[in-house]
Amino acid sequence: MSNKKIYDNVNNIFLFFSMALRVNLELELYLSVIYILQQKVKPMAEYLTIAHSDELKSGECKTVEVNGLALALYNVNGKFYATDNTCLHRGGPLGEGELQNTIVTCPWHGWQYDVITGENVVDSAAKLKTYEVQVVGNDVQVKI
Ligand code: FES
Repeated sequence: MSNKKIYDNVNNIFLFFSMALRVNLELELYLSVIYILQQKVKPMAEYLTIAHSDELKSGECKTVEVNGLALALYNVNGKFYATDNTCLHRGGPLGEGELQNTIVTCPWHGWQYDVITGENVVDSAAKLKTYEVQVVGNDVQVKI
């Protein structure tokens, strides 16, 4: 093989690896930008209709499912509140509990929570997630 051919082959190999390296760097940069955008741009919360206001009388609660979440919806003197449905003790369904004013009692073993704050009445560190609720016309909507 002549020196010229060896030179051409080495040059071609060098060009190939240079281009591969460049493509790889561009791909890594692209993936990094996508990752950063995913961290910064979270989906905006939106209000979703979960019930009609006439479905739940004052002093009643029920379990509702929305976007794969089980929520407990409460009617406290005509104002609606929502929390996670799952009791922090052993997972009892709070929407099937008993509501007195702002306190719901879990149907399984009696743990009690304030439905406005989500706090357990005995241990405020045990706190249910709460959700913003609005009523538009007859629609009870929760911010998810
Ligand atoms: S599961 Fe709710 S009090 Fe036990």
